[in-house]
Amino acid sequence: MNRRKFIKNASLTGVGLAVGNSLVNCADGNSKENLEKGKIIANPSKVNLPLVIATWDVKNATAKAMEVLQAGGNSLDAVEQGCKIEEANEKGQSVGKGGLPDRDGNVTLDACIMDKHGNCGSVVYLQNITHAVSVARKVMEDTPHVMLAGEGAKQFAISKGFKVEDLLTETSKKAWEKWKVEAKYKPIINIENHDTIGMLAIDKHGDISGACTTSGLAYKLGGRVGDSPIIGSGLFVDNEIGACVATGLGEEVVKTVGSFLVVELMRQGKSPQDACEEAISRIVNKPNSDYKNFQVGYIAVNKSGETGSYSIHQWFSMTKFQDGVNEQIQSDYFNKV
Ligand code: GLY
Repeated sequence: MNRRKFIKNASLTGVGLAVGNSLVNCADGNSKENLEKGKIIANPSKVNLPLVIATWDVKNATAKAMEVLQAGGNSLDAVEQGCKIEEANEKGQSVGKGGLPDRDGNVTLDACIMDKHGNCGSVVYLQNITHAVSVARKVMEDTPHVMLAGEGAKQFAISKGFKVEDLLTETSKKAWEKWKVEAKYKPIINIENHDTIGMLAIDKHGDISGACTTSGLAYKLGGRVGDSPIIGSGLFVDNEIGACVATGLGEEVVKTVGSFLVVELMRQGKSPQDACEEAISRIVNKPNSDYKNFQVGYIAVNKSGETGSYSIHQWFSMTKFQDGVNEQIQSDYFNKV
């Protein structure tokens, strides 16, 4: 079904009117025709571009992305350069170098990137290469494929000149050795208030790109892959509508195709905030949901530059850089009891 038909069908069910009104309210400057096409056009009088948002408190990363944007760079360059800051930060134990390993002591990285045209690239189970997000971009730009995994991804990265490194730092090795004493398997909620780094940017032309990068669940089974390299789950960008990126327990995000869901909800007229809340509700309201024992968080931006973030538990945050202000914003959350 094309977009026009979708919106038309929605009107017949009574949803369309609410959708149309909601879009007019959130993106004044949109013509009826664009709304019917499912497009939300950035309104320059309302949006101060460029704009960057990221999961968690990563002001150095958003600052780098904004530096790229202020220098005239596009949103794709911005999200790649921003994510690279966290990948190189050995203190962050959930991303890139210094990431916590799987239960066998192997650091394996997942990452993806998506541009304004809907092109995307992804790497899964990548070892010994710090900048997984840049390898994902090379997959997108230099191959006819979307995803490369494991040894193939590593050999591809080497062929592109990426440096081979040991990613297991002394700190992460010590944490793994401590974990091995009991070797209990339990997702860690808000691991040091840092998890998958996802970043979304709108450049001065109003074009949106996104990226995310992670070492995945700490002490996972060897071979486990989460949501972060799965387009539509960990990340989704539709330059006509907006973008979303996820953090937290990837299995739950994959089961609800979370980021695609958020973007589709925005297409139907929800604000980024409402769309993130609805996507979290799909997880927590499942029969027998074990949500008290895991965290998932989403951040989203629409074409008008409105942003939103929401999580299951407290202490998820978003970093936002706009209008010269680079700030951490605590997210609202579901589990208030
Ligand atoms: N969100 C990261 C992961 O579950 O691997």
